[in-house]
Amino acid sequence: MSEKQDPFNAPFGTLFGDHMAVATYVDGVYDYPGAAVPLENFSLHPATHALHYASECFEGLKAHRQPDGSVAIFRLDDSVARMIRSIEKLRMTPPSAEMLRQLIIDATTANASFTPDAPGSLYIRPTFIGTAPNIGAAATPSTEAMLYCINSPVGDYFAGGVRPLTIFIETDMPRTTPQFGSVKSGANYVMALGPTLDAKRDHVADQVLFASGDDVTETGAANFFLCDGERLITRNLDDSFLHGITRSSILQIARDMDMEIEERSIPVAELRAWAEHGEMFLSGTAAVIAPIGTVITQGETITIGDGQPGGTTLKLREALTDIQSGISEDKHGWLTPLNS
Ligand code: PLP
Ligand code: COI
Repeated sequence: MSEKQDPFNAPFGTLFGDHMAVATYVDGVYDYPGAAVPLENFSLHPATHALHYASECFEGLKAHRQPDGSVAIFRLDDSVARMIRSIEKLRMTPPSAEMLRQLIIDATTANASFTPDAPGSLYIRPTFIGTAPNIGAAATPSTEAMLYCINSPVGDYFAGGVRPLTIFIETDMPRTTPQFGSVKSGANYVMALGPTLDAKRDHVADQVLFASGDDVTETGAANFFLCDGERLITRNLDDSFLHGITRSSILQIARDMDMEIEERSIPVAELRAWAEHGEMFLSGTAAVIAPIGTVITQGETITIGDGQPGGTTLKLREALTDIQSGISEDKHGWLTPLNS
């Protein structure tokens, strides 16, 4: 845990800033002391609700170093709004948007010196856990909670940098349940783990793209796009998958480039046909824009184009990262500068 550790030589999410911000929820009221504190271990009762009944959710956003050396958070208010929706889906009382926003700003400001230069960034992980010590509360929400934010200097999410990924298309198993698809809850990730590990073992795939019911949605940790020089296609929003903030940023950037946007269902047959002439990529805060080079489906291994990252994919990626790192104008007001 040092400001000098290189996030490109450590697995994503294993280095941490030395501060955190913590609020507690007891008797229907949130208490946030209003400042970051040194990062330290928590002491939790073994009956803690989140450890038994998964009353947990989190966010993932990033702060980026700007050309003048300052640090700015990308799309903070969108993450705040999504976390409040997640907490509500856990049937718990959310904090006010103002409190959550400030808590994230306080932790990230305290850890801002850990922000690497681009293409690195400071990952921000606000987390909510139900803390009531009650193993009988399987069918009731936790009456107590903790809301905290930690930071992690990061490089590439996928080992090996920007390289074409191999994706296995899973048509039998969904990523999660229909009612929890759009909730950023830890339970969703452990549900996706089995199919993902099986695909890594059986097909040497990097990720699984979930397409149960012939409906291509998302991978375990990123949204999915088809594109070519003119068109950008992604699944229309509903409760079945996570409403990615990177997804929404890419759609806006593509609109700004006058690309044609289609938000609609994508059947596996269309994806297969697209491989012959178009590009595909994943999008997420951690993944940024990750090109797909190979798709494994129905017993076939299909190469997308020449198997290398596509030109439109790389153009969209550069446009996004240039806004995040202050190289291009932030014309949609996506950056929240931090006071150093
Ligand atoms: N889908 C899942 C399941 C995710 O975990 C993520 C990552 O956060 C995304 C999509 C992309 O969301 P965002 O762009 O907001 O990071
Ligand atoms: C993100 O992109 O923020 C994610 O949540 C992915 C992840 C590291 C689980």
